[in-house]
Amino acid sequence: MNDQVFRSTAQLVTQVVDEIVAVVQQKPDATLCIAAGDTPIPVMRELARRALAGEVDLSRVRFLGLDEWVGLTPQTKGTCIETLTTHLFAPAQISPRRIHFFRTDAEDLPEEIARINDFVALHGIDYILLGIGMNGHIGFNEPGVEVTAQAHQVALAETTKRVMRKYFDQDFPLESGITLGFAQILAAKQVVLMATGAQKAAIVRKTVRTAPTNQLPATLLKLAAHPCRFYVDQAAGQELE
Ligand code: PGA
Repeated sequence: MNDQVFRSTAQLVTQVVDEIVAVVQQKPDATLCIAAGDTPIPVMRELARRALAGEVDLSRVRFLGLDEWVGLTPQTKGTCIETLTTHLFAPAQISPRRIHFFRTDAEDLPEEIARINDFVALHGIDYILLGIGMNGHIGFNEPGVEVTAQAHQVALAETTKRVMRKYFDQDFPLESGITLGFAQILAAKQVVLMATGAQKAAIVRKTVRTAPTNQLPATLLKLAAHPCRFYVDQAAGQELE
C-alpha cells in the first residue's frame, strides 16, 4: 500500500480524476467502481464537469456499484445509487444501460448478487475508488469479513448503523447491505483508497500501521494484486509521520 498525503483536498481530487480520465482514454469501455460515501462526492462532481466540458467521453464506460443498503428503492435519497446519480450519472448523462448496481429492492437478492458476480467475472474492474469507514470497513465489508469473499449480503456493524444516519433524512431501520467482496476488489487493475478530513485521521494511522487482518478490513487492501494507493489530505494524514 503506497500512502500519499496531499497538500489540499482539491489536489487529491484532481489526482484521482486525472487517473480515471487516463483509464477511460486508454480503454473507453473501462469498468469503473466509485464508492458512494461522502468522501468521493467531489470526484464524482469533477468527473461530471469534465464530461460535460467534453474533456472525457464517459458514454461507453461501465459503472459498477460497490455496495448498497438493503431494503430501499434506488430513488431513496441517500442510497448509493441515488448519490452516484445525483453527482455523476445525471449531470454527465450516463445511460442507464451502462450502470450496473445491486437492486436491493429486488425480491430475489441471491439472484441479484449472482448477476453482479457474473458481471465482475466477465468484465473485471479497471479502476476502483474506495472510501474508508470509521471502523475501517470497505464498502460493507465489515470487520471479520473473509478476504476470499465475492459479492455478498452483510449484517451492518453497529458503527455503520450509527454513521448511516448522516446519509439519510429519515430514520430507516436498516440491518443489512450488499457489497462487492474482497476477492473482487483486490483483483482490480487499479485500487485507490481515499480519506479526507480530521475525523478519519485515527483510522488512517491504524490502517497504515497494521498488518493485513480481517479485523480491520482496510488493511486487507495491502494484499491487492496491483499495489493499492492510499490518498489522504492533510487533515486525514495528520497522525502519519
Ligand atoms: P464516507 O464513508 O466517505 O461517507 O466517510 C466511507 C465509508 O463508510 O466507506
